[in-house]
Amino acid sequence: MNLLDTAIQAARAAGREIMQRLPQERDVRSKGFRDIVTDADLAAQETLAAIIRTQFPQHGILSEEGLKPGNDAETIWVLDPVDGTTNYSHRFPCFSVSVGVAQGKELAAGVVFDPLRDHLFCAERGAGATLNGERLHVSGTDEAIHALVGLDFAATPSLRAKQMTAMVNLSKHVHTFRSIGSAALGLCYVASGWMDAYFHWTLSPWDCAAGGLIIAEAGGALTDVDGGPWNYMLPRCLATNGKLHRALLEAMKA
Ligand code: IPD
Ligand code: CA
Ligand code: CA
Repeated sequence: MNLLDTAIQAARAAGREIMQRLPQERDVRSKGFRDIVTDADLAAQETLAAIIRTQFPQHGILSEEGLKPGNDAETIWVLDPVDGTTNYSHRFPCFSVSVGVAQGKELAAGVVFDPLRDHLFCAERGAGATLNGERLHVSGTDEAIHALVGLDFAATPSLRAKQMTAMVNLSKHVHTFRSIGSAALGLCYVASGWMDAYFHWTLSPWDCAAGGLIIAEAGGALTDVDGGPWNYMLPRCLATNGKLHRALLEAMKA
């Protein structure tokens, strides 16, 4: 199996795991300030890792709940077993499984799976992005005042305050905002043209590796929030349909 097919198989299997556990009693533990983990995160991580290790034993795995690649791994699977754990623990119906494949700073493949809606977002570098097999394109919105802008909230108080300043600035220029609680899905919603932009101040690699490639392959643009170059290891990100990028970078400032 190739990288993308393995990513799809793993994401779907992890999706089944978290859906099966959704109605059951929840084991929720704190692992830091505004940071929780559930039984489903750990079980889904095991499911993902088992499939990837069977297909690609030589590859490294970086996953939110504690898996780290060796120093010599050239290809690294960047996994978020449940993106939207806060939603999941509240049974708020919005969460996903995110599977990215990185080679150095470049992303080779990415899959984000929403098991509630059976939405499978996929991309391979240079080959475009799809939703359930249909080609994805970012929106054509070219005026900020019509923009629907997604964000999710930084947990760290000082960074949340900076993000809120950018949001207040943006609010004078855009139509309105949505926060859906899964950064991976937020990025895919820009790739789908359902939102025109998405920004965040504190993403982890597993939040944005797959979604970042999916946006890029759908024709969108990604930078740091100051306009500098983006890669999946950077915490800050502005993702747009490309047409709005410069205007929203400016609008964030004032
Ligand atoms: C979180 C979600 C959320 C974002 C947080 C992430 P998790 O991931 O993507 O939307 O605002 O920064 O940590 O913890 O649910 O995997
Ligand atoms: Ca996440
Ligand atoms: Ca997670």
